[in-house]
Amino acid sequence: MTDRGRVVLTGGVQIAPSILSANFAELGRDIAAVERGGADLIHIDVMDGHFVPNITIGPPVVRAIKRIATRPLDIHLMIEKPDRYVDDFVRAGANMLSVHVEGSTHLHRTIALIKGRGVKAGVVLNPSTPAAALEEIAPDVDFVLVMSVNPGFGGQTFIPRSLDKVRRVRELLTRAGSSVPIEIDGGIDAGTAADAFSAGASILVAGHAIFGAPDPEAATRALRAAVGSATGSHA
Ligand code: DX5
Ligand code: ZN
Repeated sequence: MTDRGRVVLTGGVQIAPSILSANFAELGRDIAAVERGGADLIHIDVMDGHFVPNITIGPPVVRAIKRIATRPLDIHLMIEKPDRYVDDFVRAGANMLSVHVEGSTHLHRTIALIKGRGVKAGVVLNPSTPAAALEEIAPDVDFVLVMSVNPGFGGQTFIPRSLDKVRRVRELLTRAGSSVPIEIDGGIDAGTAADAFSAGASILVAGHAIFGAPDPEAATRALRAAVGSATGSHA
């Protein structure tokens, strides 16, 4: 479905472990574990201390991860004016780059910049941002990321209303003639994953549920199984 050099966004479930909750001193070991567990993507949260009240990692760490990861890198930019850093993250090895609608003044230009570099471009909606914010950009994006917590930290509680948001985003995309995947991020675990998938999100990001578990490899497998058994899909 996916490989190191190419990202294929399908309608089937894709598990994207967020390394935000990994052991940063053992990143190579932790990423290898979730890859053995069947991770489709590696989700990397980039925070600048301005757009969100937390600072995480930048291009040098992404470059290091790129050398050891065998799955595509899904980079979630929680930064102000992301245009300034698109090329740095592309050079570091991004396969998918998502930017918040709230953080980019000229969103259409940002999306065109990302796609022009041959990288999948996504837009992200905060919990309080209406689905309608996608109205004009929907035909241009490769995926949409719906935040199901307020961005900035791992291990927060899933906001149940996000499921309706996912449905509204799917309707909006369909009206725009697009069938691109919806990614959901925040509070995804074996209890919320199937509901998110049934609502229309196929890329499931999970940090705490995977890296907070004693065995991240088994937790990755368990997340996919939870979707499969609840929906009857061959996830
Ligand atoms: C939050 C990040 C998420 C976070 C999810 O700002 O965008 O990717 O790591 O973590 P959990 O799954 O623990 O909510
Ligand atoms: Zn994220």
